[in-house]
Amino acid sequence: MIALPRARAFLQYLGAAVFCLLIVNVVLFTTTRTRSHPRKGPSPSKASTHNQPLVSGVPIPRQIWQIFFAPPEVDIIEEELLHSSEWISMTPDYTYTMVGSLEADEFIDANFKNQPEIPKTYHALQNPGLKSDFLRYLLLLVRGGIYSDVDTKPVVRPEDWIPVEKRQQVRLIVAIEYDEAQDPHPEDFKYPVQFCQWTIAAAPNHPVLKKMVSRAVTGLQDIANAQATTLDRMEITDFNVLNATGPVAWTEVVLETLQEVASITSYRDLAKVNEAQYYGDIVILPLESFRADYLDDWGVSWRTGRRAFVRHFFKGGWKKKPPP
Ligand SMILES: *[C@@H]1O[C@H](CO)[C@@H](O)[C@H](O)[C@H]1NC(C)=O
Repeated sequence: MIALPRARAFLQYLGAAVFCLLIVNVVLFTTTRTRSHPRKGPSPSKASTHNQPLVSGVPIPRQIWQIFFAPPEVDIIEEELLHSSEWISMTPDYTYTMVGSLEADEFIDANFKNQPEIPKTYHALQNPGLKSDFLRYLLLLVRGGIYSDVDTKPVVRPEDWIPVEKRQQVRLIVAIEYDEAQDPHPEDFKYPVQFCQWTIAAAPNHPVLKKMVSRAVTGLQDIANAQATTLDRMEITDFNVLNATGPVAWTEVVLETLQEVASITSYRDLAKVNEAQYYGDIVILPLESFRADYLDDWGVSWRTGRRAFVRHFFKGGWKKKPPP
């Protein structure tokens, strides 16, 4: 560190203190407003650059979700497949829930009585990839929290994924999985930018999740209709998984919403993102955030100061997923 003359150092300190007070004020103001009048209109605090209304009343709950459907032919699970204990030990203030197929069935039956097409679709699906994709959106839609695949490992505590002064404002955290402009593999991806859905954090009832669920319900039924069969009998290709419930669907739904709430026109606007971008109540994290492998084994790029939050091991071999 460079030694500063005393007076200058004091002025800087003063500046920083005033800035902190301002932030505390903004946060308190937003909190009070949200509590007394849950609002749909434009937010009074325009802390970020791209701005739009806050939607959901409550911030992202401190809850971790993982889904594990044991593949039928496997009776012992390789220990390294699951990093659940790391999620649990890194988030002592969070509720952790591992959802298996029986809990999933109960959750679906209990929560979607008014939307019978959801349980009907979910129960009919035979492909575990489709089921687990669909279920993560439903869990986040109803309860909110952080969903992360069982083959992910936290590198940084979720509390530190976004700055504390943004936590009152953010209702959906999405990270970029693929950016053609930074690491081109155009043969593996439909769009120049893809968002990952192995880790997503959301407040309950987020409109992006509502949209995703309705797209999945329609898209799955369309596949069955095109084959003149029913949901439980349809043949599913890798592309169907990606496009109905997987990252292609998720990417389109997130992008559509960004176009509605912010001045995003195409995937190109998200190329080369290297720090968190705030669009209304959505934050888009850069490529390495949930893909520590993009940096190195430690998930840190010492040279550029970029840092990963989650590492994904791409181990769900029984589930169809694109290569990293
Ligand atoms: C992908 O999904 C969308 C939305 O459900 C659908 O309109 C489109 O036809 C699908 N694409 C293909 C090639 O199946």
